[in-house]
Amino acid sequence: MSRVYNFSAGPAVLPEEVLGECADEMLDYAGCGMSVMEMSHRSSVFQKILDDAEATLRSLMGIPDNYKVIFTQGGDSLLFSTVFMNLALNGKADYVITGNWAKKAFQEAQILGDAVAVASSADKNFSYIPDCSDLPIREDASYLYICENNTIYGTKFPELPNTKGHVLVADQSSMFLSEPVDVSRYGLIHAGVQKNVGPAGVQIVIVREDLIPEDLPGVPTMLRLRTQADAGSLYNTPNCWGIYVCGKVFRWIEKNGGLAAMGGRNAEKAAVLYDFLDESELFSSPVERRDRSLMNVPFVTGNKDLDAEFVAEAAKAGLVSLKGHRSVGGMRASIYNAMPRAGVEALVAFMKDFELAHRA
Ligand SMILES: Cc1ncc(COP(=O)(O)O)c(C=O)c1O
Repeated sequence: MSRVYNFSAGPAVLPEEVLGECADEMLDYAGCGMSVMEMSHRSSVFQKILDDAEATLRSLMGIPDNYKVIFTQGGDSLLFSTVFMNLALNGKADYVITGNWAKKAFQEAQILGDAVAVASSADKNFSYIPDCSDLPIREDASYLYICENNTIYGTKFPELPNTKGHVLVADQSSMFLSEPVDVSRYGLIHAGVQKNVGPAGVQIVIVREDLIPEDLPGVPTMLRLRTQADAGSLYNTPNCWGIYVCGKVFRWIEKNGGLAAMGGRNAEKAAVLYDFLDESELFSSPVERRDRSLMNVPFVTGNKDLDAEFVAEAAKAGLVSLKGHRSVGGMRASIYNAMPRAGVEALVAFMKDFELAHRA
C-alpha cells in the first residue's frame, strides 16, 4: 500500500485509522453479517450508529441542549437556500461577502427575498476579512450570514462579527471541528462534511431550536428544518454510510484530545507552512496575515508556468492535489485535521528544494 499526502480541498484526506476500521467492518459490521451500506436506516443497529454520532459531536463541540443537530443531504449549497427559507421569515437577511461560497449563499438569498451585502472583501480578491465591528446591519434583518473559513481564498474570520444583537449564521464547512467554537454565539452553523469530517454527501446543521419554524407555508417538506429536526434526521433515507464514517471521525477526534488538541495541532501545522512562506524568496501567501486560515493555505510564485511545474513535480513526489482554485491561481494546500504534521513538513521540504533549484 502506498498512500500519498493529499492536500485536496475536499473531498479530502481522512484519518488512516478510520479508513482501516471501515475496511475491517466492510463485510460484517458488528456481527450483523452485512455492511452499514446494506443496512436498513430503520434498524436498531443503524439507530445506534446515528445516536452515537450525534452524542459524540455534541460532546466534542459542547453543543447546548437547546440546539438541534441535523444530518442532511443535498449539498452544502442547498443549505444556502434552506437557511434563508427557514430563518428569514420576513424575507430579509444580511450577508458578509468574503469569497465564492459567501457570494453563492447571498445569491440564493437574493433569488428568494431581500438580501443585502453589508461588507465585502471583493476589492482585494477576497484576500482579507473586512472589518466587522460596526456593520450596517438592517434593524429588521433576520440574521447576519458569514462563511467563517473561506476554502478557496484561505481566509478565516479572526473573530466573530459584531452582530448588534442579530442572529449569526455561519458556513463552517472547511473549518468544522478544526478548533473549539462557542456554539451559543451562533443561531445556526452548517457544514458539508467532505472537508474535515467524512465522505461527501452529508451536511450537518446545528440550529437553535427556537429558530426552527413550526410551520412554513409554501415550503416543500424536505426544505423545512422542522422536518428533519423532529424526525431525528430520519424523515427519509439518510446517507447511512456517510454518517457512520462521520461518527468514526468524531471518535477519532475525541481519542486524540478533542477540539482543543485539534486546534493546537492545526495551529502548529499551519505555522510550519506559513513561516516558510514568509521567509521564502520564491513562494508567498496572498492572504492578509491576521486573517489566514489554518485549514486552507493558498500560495503563489507569481509565475504561472512555474506554478504548474511545481504542482506537477510535487505530485510525482507524492504530494498531490496542490493546484490552486482558478480564482486565486497558484497552489493551495488544504491541511485538515487528518493531514499529519509530517505531510506539511514534507511539503515544505519539497518547496525548499524547488526554490533552490529555481532561484535565478
Ligand atoms: C465553505 C464552503 N461552503 C459550501 C461549499 C459547497 O459545498 P457542496 O459542494 O457540498 O454544495 C463548499 C465546497 O467546497 C465550501 O468550501
